[in-house]
Amino acid sequence: MAAQQNKIAYITGCSRGIGAALVDLLLDLDYQIIGIARSNVAERPNFKFIKIDLNDLEAVQQFNFSQDASEVLLINNAGIIGEISPVGQVSDQSIQQVINVNTIAPQILMNKFIKTFSKKAKKGHIINISSGAGKHPIDAWASYCASKAALDLFSQTTAEELKAREILNWHIHAIAPGVVDTQMQSDIRKANPENFKLHERFVGLKNDNELSDPKNVANQINKVIQQPSDYPETVISVRDF
Ligand SMILES: NC(=O)c1ccc[n+]([C@@H]2O[C@H](COP(=O)([O-])OP(=O)(O)OC[C@H]3O[C@@H](n4cnc5c(N)ncnc54)[C@H](OP(=O)(O)O)[C@@H]3O)[C@@H](O)[C@H]2O)c1
Repeated sequence: MAAQQNKIAYITGCSRGIGAALVDLLLDLDYQIIGIARSNVAERPNFKFIKIDLNDLEAVQQFNFSQDASEVLLINNAGIIGEISPVGQVSDQSIQQVINVNTIAPQILMNKFIKTFSKKAKKGHIINISSGAGKHPIDAWASYCASKAALDLFSQTTAEELKAREILNWHIHAIAPGVVDTQMQSDIRKANPENFKLHERFVGLKNDNELSDPKNVANQINKVIQQPSDYPETVISVRDF
């Protein structure tokens, strides 16, 4: 294992959007960062890149958290919306990809992260980027909604398990970031309006400048990173901060 650093953050989906904003912000706060995505991201001081397709569950299983620190942070941020179509029209492949990337990969990474660090890191924190879509149904997003609902309950169960085993100084959060101006929103606006009842509403949010800036969202998420004890609930939303 590499030499001990003070603070390390593993961040999936570091190539753009909320993940890229979190990388920039945490580098300024002196974290060592290991970023994961499919598109290549240039390395820079204190930022190391690892290319993994989180839809490839064998690759996820082979990944190891090999860099150690006294404070360790995992941000499961990577996520996909999948095909925007009602059940009955969506492809089997899209269902599988959404659940692999949004639910199974984060669960495997959490499992490995806790196994690797829970007995030796001074402080541990896992943040799963969830969604309001995991709390109620949204037309033509069934897999996405189900994937985030599962992530929320996995997070809650893990948080209770750590508490029951008196693994202190560890925190788990599933954070809904609000509606953010990223490629995911642009993918949503590209959906066929015939398949997606809320198409007009999402186009309107962009036209009316109602989408949040990823940098502002990263700042909100950072409040939880810096003061986790101020957020006693596991499943939270930046809208409530
Ligand atoms: N934007 C919103 O309004 C909104 C609302 C609620 C929740 N969220 C959640 O916020 C998180 C970040 O989304 P975003 O809005 O920042 O979207 P984004 O701009 O599309 O970024 C998604 C990130 O996930 C990575 N990713 C996607 N598929 C991957 C795969 N198979 N393997 C590895 N990495 C993969 C992408 O990198 P590569 O393509 O390079 O692999 C990219 O870095 C997601 O979990 C999303 O569900 C977003």
